[in-house]
Amino acid sequence: MAKNMRQGLTANSSQFTLNGEPIRILGGSIHYFRVPRAYWSDRLLKMKACGINTLTTYVPWNLHEPERGVFDFQGQQDLEAYIREAGRVGLWVILRPGPYICSEWELGGLPSWLLRDPNMKLRTTYPGFMKAVNSFFDELMPRVVPLQFHKGGPIIAVQVENEYGSYAKDDQCLPFIKEAMLSRGICELLLTSDAHDGFKCGGVNGALKTINFQKLTPEVRKHLEKMAPEKPKLVMEYWTGWFDVWAEPHHTFKAEEMVSIVTEILKLGMSINLYMFHGGTSFGFMNGATDLGTYKPQVNSYDYDAPLTEAGDYTTKYHLLRELFAGYHSEDLPEMPLETPKEAYPSVVIGQYLPLWESLQLIAPHESERPVNMENLPVNNGNGQSYGYTLYETNITGGGMLNSRNHVRDRALVFVDKRFIGILDYKTQELPIRNGQGEQKLSLLVENCGRVNYGEALDKQHKGLIGNIELNHVPLRDCTITSLEMKPGFVNRLSSLCWKPLGQETGLPAFFQGTLIVDGVPSDTFIKLPGWSKGVVFVNGQNLGRYWSIGPQQTLYLPGPWLKTGQNEIIVFEEQKKGNDIQSTCSPHLAKTS
Ligand code: GLA
Repeated sequence: MAKNMRQGLTANSSQFTLNGEPIRILGGSIHYFRVPRAYWSDRLLKMKACGINTLTTYVPWNLHEPERGVFDFQGQQDLEAYIREAGRVGLWVILRPGPYICSEWELGGLPSWLLRDPNMKLRTTYPGFMKAVNSFFDELMPRVVPLQFHKGGPIIAVQVENEYGSYAKDDQCLPFIKEAMLSRGICELLLTSDAHDGFKCGGVNGALKTINFQKLTPEVRKHLEKMAPEKPKLVMEYWTGWFDVWAEPHHTFKAEEMVSIVTEILKLGMSINLYMFHGGTSFGFMNGATDLGTYKPQVNSYDYDAPLTEAGDYTTKYHLLRELFAGYHSEDLPEMPLETPKEAYPSVVIGQYLPLWESLQLIAPHESERPVNMENLPVNNGNGQSYGYTLYETNITGGGMLNSRNHVRDRALVFVDKRFIGILDYKTQELPIRNGQGEQKLSLLVENCGRVNYGEALDKQHKGLIGNIELNHVPLRDCTITSLEMKPGFVNRLSSLCWKPLGQETGLPAFFQGTLIVDGVPSDTFIKLPGWSKGVVFVNGQNLGRYWSIGPQQTLYLPGPWLKTGQNEIIVFEEQKKGNDIQSTCSPHLAKTS
């Protein structure tokens, strides 16, 4: 980008101008943290070839500051490289650095260590929150400030927070976030974005209000009419599809309907950003959850029924949009890049297994009189446990009724002397335990299924056991607590243990290991686990995400660049029911068919 261009994105009339010239934003969202780095440029080129001129991306604070004061902007997290790549491809960038991002992402992108403070008030001017935001922005902003348009970079606008109008707990929060950006050198156009539930309370002085929706409902039309006529109108999130939660149907949104609404938006003279243009994957334990009365964790796939699929392939939506957007360009659109090859590999035979109980020797447990929630456990240099499972164990001397008092977050497999006796979750809060002889060990393997990313309950996203569990009305005491975070270091160390050949008597939960052989250059594939029940898949130590037979998602996207020629280790952590083998397929199955 030429350094002599000085007049950034301006919103002083009904049309945006950039460097004094009218510009209509034809934007699309692709999140660098949801696309393997090796594919960033492929997806951005496909975006450019569709006639999009602006990339929008969130910045997930939890990935960039996994422990307080420990920052990661390398490799997959190299935000600057991503923005530069967009610039090279010829895209402008609208940056959405939150610090809260929503986005079906764990705790809306906020680091879970914030919740160690019992008085924490997220997304407010509570001093503990402001201090953490300031120190994150001290690291983040100097990286993006030089990439702004005024400095010759591609960033033409920056969003302040995200849909604050629907949260609106503190009217000083947006001014604080805005000031935290300005004081660190952000000088491009500022925006806020809100959907219908936030129209009333959204916005901050000095930032352009934008709007989020999928359909031009009467309410949306009314709001559009009310929006300042002397300002450009931008649909900051035009929802091209929707996300999925476990146990509910897969969402789709008809291509023709979508394109006719986009056509109308453009005819009305508005700018638009397609959320998502390409959704990608919330790999590992990074999915969020919805809780509007009932807690519903989201699946790993963030396909979103977007114009590019989860694996970056073209869809009808892409082709129709390309035709439409071509009319808004004076030059021909670039050629569409080829799709990446997909392959169904021969099924992987399970070679050996390791009961969960035997893996515990790799982790130092913590003794505590009472249960301690994940975030307050003394692990990770005083930052607590963020993700994964936590095992709570204690000795009991008789049976009776176990009552969780609704303190399980989110789901616990319960064992007596390593024998599975049932599940405790939000619905099931009581479990009978049979009388045994003498002392028995009670174990609760509690899974954080994903923290809520939207709504009132953000401050209450503590996981693990968040209070007492009772046996016959008596709170259990003297707990041994083990953090099973399942980070790559742990998964790689598993191979040092004594794995067993498969036999009839396989005890669960357990890790199952197999080898995927790749001849030649690795291709993308989709892992399928027919006959298995629920667990997590690791490939070469990397956490792909969770599978759960209840669906809707039935396959896990495995990007080719994460495989190598030759042997690849697959480890499946299965909670309850082992299948025969690990399969792969050329195409995703995101909806449950049976
Ligand atoms: C809102 C948020 C986004 C995302 C969408 C739903 O608009 O701003 O981050 O959560 O809803 O996909």
